Amino acid sequence: MLDTVTPQITLEGDRLTRSLRLGRWSLRSSLDVSSPEGAELEEACTDPLGAWWKACLRGGVPEPATPLESRPKPLRVLDLFSGVGGLMVGVQQLAAEAGCRVICELAVDTDADALAVHTLNHRTRRVSSESVTSLIDYRIRDSGSSARFVYPPALLDDRLMDACQGVDLVGAGPPCQGHSNLNNHSRRSDPRNLLYLTVPAFAVACSAQAVVIENVMSVVRDEAQVVPTTRALLESCGYAVTEGVLAADSMGWPQTRKRHFLVARRANEGTGSAPVPIEDVQSALADSPPRSVLWAIGGSERLSPDPTMHLESELTFLNRERIQWLFDNDQHDLALHERPDCHQDGTSYGAVYGRMHAARPAPTITTGYMTPGRGRFVHPTEQRTITPAEAARLQGFPDSYRFSPALDRPASRSQLAKWIGDAVAMPLGYAAAASALIPQVATPAETAG
Ligand SMILES: C[S@@+](CC[C@H](N)C(=O)[O-])C[C@H]1O[C@@H](n2cnc3c(N)ncnc32)[C@H](O)[C@@H]1O
Repeated sequence: MLDTVTPQITLEGDRLTRSLRLGRWSLRSSLDVSSPEGAELEEACTDPLGAWWKACLRGGVPEPATPLESRPKPLRVLDLFSGVGGLMVGVQQLAAEAGCRVICELAVDTDADALAVHTLNHRTRRVSSESVTSLIDYRIRDSGSSARFVYPPALLDDRLMDACQGVDLVGAGPPCQGHSNLNNHSRRSDPRNLLYLTVPAFAVACSAQAVVIENVMSVVRDEAQVVPTTRALLESCGYAVTEGVLAADSMGWPQTRKRHFLVARRANEGTGSAPVPIEDVQSALADSPPRSVLWAIGGSERLSPDPTMHLESELTFLNRERIQWLFDNDQHDLALHERPDCHQDGTSYGAVYGRMHAARPAPTITTGYMTPGRGRFVHPTEQRTITPAEAARLQGFPDSYRFSPALDRPASRSQLAKWIGDAVAMPLGYAAAASALIPQVATPAETAG
């Protein structure tokens, strides 16, 4: 274990300064918390990290606490299986603290509208709605620890290859339906799981400096051994790899989301070789107790300027009755006799049709957050499920994030459910980016211990 120190946040005037120490690396950044209403400043005295996050959610951007001697080189990144760019929100957050601009060279996703949203928010230079598999030529022999590329992987398009050469980071959130414990049909033999293996191939083809792959925790039990295979492929190509689970609520975030991350860095003179171990990042960022659902979505502020983001889901008569029962009886779990007939044997998930607890973190926000029968997604104090704006907040998207693919074409409900529920929550993306990029963007701490 590296020597890690929990980040210190101090208030001076109306600026918060955050000092993050990770092993031998340190990063000091600061942020203005003087909102016109003064709410953040007030919160900064009692809950500095909460005030820091609130300021970021409202559009504040941190910067290095002491002016840098020279402007750091921008970080060039690729986002595979990008969705609307949730993972990049966390990457941008970490990069801002280090004073680095992020250039998103390429986003790839088969969902063209998601790519349009990605481009609007991250000024993405190139997008491809082809399958990732059709962009790269690679072959793997064996699996698990003996896996190797049969020949050096290469992008099939020379111009893309040039644009992506030597990027600082390949981020990826390959589809996880096959690994997910919530999916009873395909379990862990879903061919989509093999999409995971396109990520090390892409990274090696581009000689990427670092790699971050996010997935559900059960990916480690995948039949095709995609995690040990990826580790072996990257290690055999000169990368150092760390992997583990990051839990958002353990870092004080108001959502109990846990995800598996595999992070790698290429050994290279001058830019620091190994990534910071995932467990060290998790302990350095530890903060408890986690903030509550109402911390994130309570109060009177309008979270997003986009009216589509505030549309409540249309509930069936039965679901309205179920929600009414929860409030009439001051309950958070629906009684068995109020559930559909197919749930009467008591084997279904207890949380479905549930109401969130106001003073606790939210459960994992999934693509079902607008549907009571898909989880504990009823608002803690109002008789409805949470809105897209509230789900986006709980996922750590800034309120200014634009979710419409085009000015004259708002996103549909199902798109908002998929894009927001599938996204990598900001604190998790931030922590994974810290593991991958801190050895490159932070300065060595002056004194140990
Ligand atoms: C878990 S989501 C990614 C979420 C994203 N990382 C974020 O943080 O917002 C997986 C994405 O993979 C995309 N996808 C599925 N199969 C694909 C393929 N063969 N090639 C490219 N994208 C694919 C889906 O459209 C979906 O947006």
